Amino acid sequence: MKKDFILELKNVTKYYGDELVFSDVNLQVKKGDVISITGKSGCGKSTLLKCLNRLENINEGEIKFKGIDISKISPIELRQKIGIVFQDYNLFEHLTVLDNLVIGLLKIKKYPRNESVRLALDILRKVDLIDKKDKYPDELSGGQKQRVAIARTLLMKPDIILLDEPTSALDKEMKDSVLKLIKELVDDNMTLVIVSHESEFIAKVSDNIYTLNNYGLEER
Ligand SMILES: Nc1ncnc2c1ncn2[C@@H]1O[C@H](COP(=O)(O)OP(=O)(O)O)[C@@H](O)[C@H]1O
Ligand SMILES: [Mg+2]
Repeated sequence: MKKDFILELKNVTKYYGDELVFSDVNLQVKKGDVISITGKSGCGKSTLLKCLNRLENINEGEIKFKGIDISKISPIELRQKIGIVFQDYNLFEHLTVLDNLVIGLLKIKKYPRNESVRLALDILRKVDLIDKKDKYPDELSGGQKQRVAIARTLLMKPDIILLDEPTSALDKEMKDSVLKLIKELVDDNMTLVIVSHESEFIAKVSDNIYTLNNYGLEER
């Protein structure tokens, strides 16, 4: 195991019950890499991302984060280091934008409230949503919600961010605002694993593009 890979998958195989999702997935990711994964609907892209931060268990093979088998890392710790952004945002509908951001800092990072609010306001400026801080998710557009979801992940200071079809629920203008933010993450040298069908965008930003099928990842 070489130290320079931040994430390494070896012959990873996943079943749901008796149903094989994929087998023999191999992947090596270095710090700062932007890896994109495409593939047909239902081929297991979301499942693969969930395996990377232990939202799903694997059946065979090995996943290492900074050289350590992830089954040896607690899910709470791992999910701070490998953040995930879902297609449908997963925001808390009963909390304001600001509180959606503050809650993770209070509950997971155990930061004091004033420090949490300060960090959350800083990140809202970065994602250009400071004027929405007191709004609820259902008062935002899809693109704004997704930017809040990305901001929430960024606040955990992850080493890697997994993006699962971050723009597929959005129409054209909203897509552009989210892609612009993802491009900023790329420019900030964030390590990203992106599942996306935005072929033009991923061609521009990715170091490697793979297609997933049930016998592994194929480089394009
Ligand atoms: N929790 C689950 N339990 C059982 N089967 C699942 C579960 N999640 C997804 N699947 C099935 O696994 C396959 C891969 O799903 P998914 O990872 O969501 O694919 P993709 O993201 O590429 O569209 C699909 O056939 C899907 O129906
Ligand atoms: Mg999916």
